[in-house]
Amino acid sequence: MTMTIAMAGKGGTGKTTIAGLLIRFLLKKGIKPILAVDADANANLNEVLGLEVTTTLGEAREGLKDGVPTGMTRDLYMEYKVQESLVESRGYDLLVMGRPEGAGCYCHANTLLSRYMESLCGNYRVVVMDNEAGMEHISRLISRQADILLIVSDPTQRGILAARRIRDLALELKLDIKKERLIINRVNGELPSTVREAVDSAGLNLAGCVPEDELISRYDTQGRPTVELPDDAGSVQALNEIFEGILD
Ligand SMILES: Nc1ncnc2c1ncn2[C@@H]1O[C@H](COP(=O)(O)OP(=O)(O)O)[C@@H](O)[C@H]1O
Ligand SMILES: [Mg+2]
Repeated sequence: MTMTIAMAGKGGTGKTTIAGLLIRFLLKKGIKPILAVDADANANLNEVLGLEVTTTLGEAREGLKDGVPTGMTRDLYMEYKVQESLVESRGYDLLVMGRPEGAGCYCHANTLLSRYMESLCGNYRVVVMDNEAGMEHISRLISRQADILLIVSDPTQRGILAARRIRDLALELKLDIKKERLIINRVNGELPSTVREAVDSAGLNLAGCVPEDELISRYDTQGRPTVELPDDAGSVQALNEIFEGILD
């Protein structure tokens, strides 16, 4: 059985960083193969992972809309394009969805894509989906299912309110989510008690807090992949503990 873990949260809260460090955690535990899906239009999971991306699935969808090459069925074309867009790395593959839909009808292309995604995901032990702020991608692409929804927030009341809205949207869309957990990122010292209270009154399940880590910024500035952070980095240690707890 494939386990699907989907990231959610306001922009800039650390979804992509945490998705990358989750993949690192899983690989170190020998939990593989993993499919990493970058479903953010402003894709940058590859940078966190240190991988180069040449084509995205967005281009495949564009092609379907304009008609497939003669002698090829749409299914075959889609399969070919998905294989072409997969970036292979050690223990995991990365699939980048690419830019969002433009004008015109993509309904049929989307149906084919989600059908193909389902069978593709079946080849992996874990699928980690990095999403943009909205939840539309989740509802569209992975047949409304996620074993774990990881909501990331900053340590502010407004952030927790946004996290709550995302959780409520997941409920409203009737997504099949088995477990939903909140991670509060970039915490300096203790979590303020007002934020803690906001978490409780929202009924969110707090998995843990990740400290503000100067090393993450330094790696970013130097263009170094976040997954190369040392094992003793504060953020890495905190996240490893959080992941252990969530995956038990
Ligand atoms: N714990 C942290 N400490 C310091 N910087 C962080 C931390 N988590 C994330 N960042 C930085 O915050 C910025 C936004 O993170 P990112 O993962 O891209 O957010 P999102 O994917 O939610 O938009 C990045 O520059 C990242 O390096
Ligand atoms: Mg991101």
